Amino acid sequence: MKTDDSLIFVIFGASGDLARRKLIPALYSLYTQGTVPSDFVVIGASRTQYSDIVFREKMKESLIQFNEKGNQSRIDEFVGKLFYTPVNYDDTDSYRALKERTDTIRKEHSLPDNIIFYLSTPPDLYSVIPTRLAEVGLNVQDEGWKRVIIEKPFGYDLESAIALKNLLIKYWNEDQIYRIDHYLGKETVQNLLVTRFSNGIFEPLWNSRYIHHVEVTSAEDLGVERRGGYYDNSGALRDMIQNHLLQVVAITAMEPPASTKPEAIRNETLKVLQSLRPINESEVKHVAVRGQYTASSVKGAKYPGYREEDGVRSDSTTETYAALKFYIDNWRWGGVPFYIRTGKRLPARVMEIVINFKPTPHFLFSVQDECRSCNQLVIRIQPDEGIMLSLVMKMPGTGFEVRNVNMDFHYSDLTKTSLPSAYERLIHDAMTGDSTLFAGTEELLESWRFLMPVINAWSKNASIPLYGYPAGTWGPENADDLIEDKEMTWHYPCKNLTDDGIYCEL
Ligand code: BG6
Repeated sequence: MKTDDSLIFVIFGASGDLARRKLIPALYSLYTQGTVPSDFVVIGASRTQYSDIVFREKMKESLIQFNEKGNQSRIDEFVGKLFYTPVNYDDTDSYRALKERTDTIRKEHSLPDNIIFYLSTPPDLYSVIPTRLAEVGLNVQDEGWKRVIIEKPFGYDLESAIALKNLLIKYWNEDQIYRIDHYLGKETVQNLLVTRFSNGIFEPLWNSRYIHHVEVTSAEDLGVERRGGYYDNSGALRDMIQNHLLQVVAITAMEPPASTKPEAIRNETLKVLQSLRPINESEVKHVAVRGQYTASSVKGAKYPGYREEDGVRSDSTTETYAALKFYIDNWRWGGVPFYIRTGKRLPARVMEIVINFKPTPHFLFSVQDECRSCNQLVIRIQPDEGIMLSLVMKMPGTGFEVRNVNMDFHYSDLTKTSLPSAYERLIHDAMTGDSTLFAGTEELLESWRFLMPVINAWSKNASIPLYGYPAGTWGPENADDLIEDKEMTWHYPCKNLTDDGIYCEL
């Protein structure tokens, strides 16, 4: 869909990694597809003292690096739309200067008074920037609209998330605030809604009568890269589970919404999060496993342990792996265990939802002993997006030799055009005022509420082990103990790991 309203897109934290790697390439892509009005303008803002020219040069380099389809003349045309204003984040005068700059650019380019402020900054600025913007009137919507996009994490714990919510609603209306969870912008996460609610064959089976357990895995092969400082104060639970994984669980488990309107979908995802069975601090050691990667050698290359990474404390107890078992206490899911896990420096970058169906009541053919859940629906969120259903089939020939086989659907079969990046989709939606794929505050507060006992137990109770796992392996083996049915294990997206930990190919 084309965005009709032209606008100014202000990026706070414009000299940072996210702007360079994701935001500018996404804006470039929207621009070259003609999805945004060609007269839109981007203003970068951050503490670094760049001029417009230097900022353009830097972003041009990033576009060449991160946008494979980049075409030199289109890139030059696009960077001509970039401007830059240095800001001192806590100083109201900086925002006055920014306001003057937006007014001038708006007049020069005959743009309407529509502005998106994207906060791609450290989280401690999420309360400062919206407050200062409001102090200089940059939240006022007399002649156009003003929207603020906030990156995750929304708060550091339940208390700070509530404080942030209360502060934001002092100055901004709920419909001006877009809390980004880039997983919701992923094509396959959205397709999950379509798969579930447009195919009559799944819904009758999508409940505790037929489903044995559900898994969500989000694995990353990379370590903490240049984000050691941030990550060491965050950890896997806050960085991935509180937001991305629980949102994906909510979409997997939700009831059919009344419509595709944002509120209708959020009402349902919120109900799932409200139905999560609370975990007691005393039971955390039985339902959660944490780990931290240690140094190893993969394919001859040496990988440092987490504690040796830049910005990480040498005695850090931050988890780079977290796995959790929990239940959703509602009519549909009563008694079905959900297992979720995420980790850095695992053998592959892959995200999957695995629906494990119950076995047949009686095993007639021998293969079923080897696959307790012979029917699995694997929804691959990334990479090679698609859906795979495993079935038991007879091998041709005499007798009853049976095999587990897969029926695969790959997104790449549907279209040759590459899927839009999650940021592309979400920035576009924020421009059109569609908040369907953004996280609601109440959902975020519910996820914090659910995770606080785990966070508290892990921070207070040193007797809960933090298992080391060598970089390039699937995390601590102790995570297998979470699986209730002792004849089952986690679903491994790829298995061809050798003893010396060679990354596996999907
Ligand atoms: C971010 C986390 O939200 O998601 C990162 O802060 C993580 O630590 C990233 O690497 C993963 O996103 P994706 O899209 O690469 O799976």
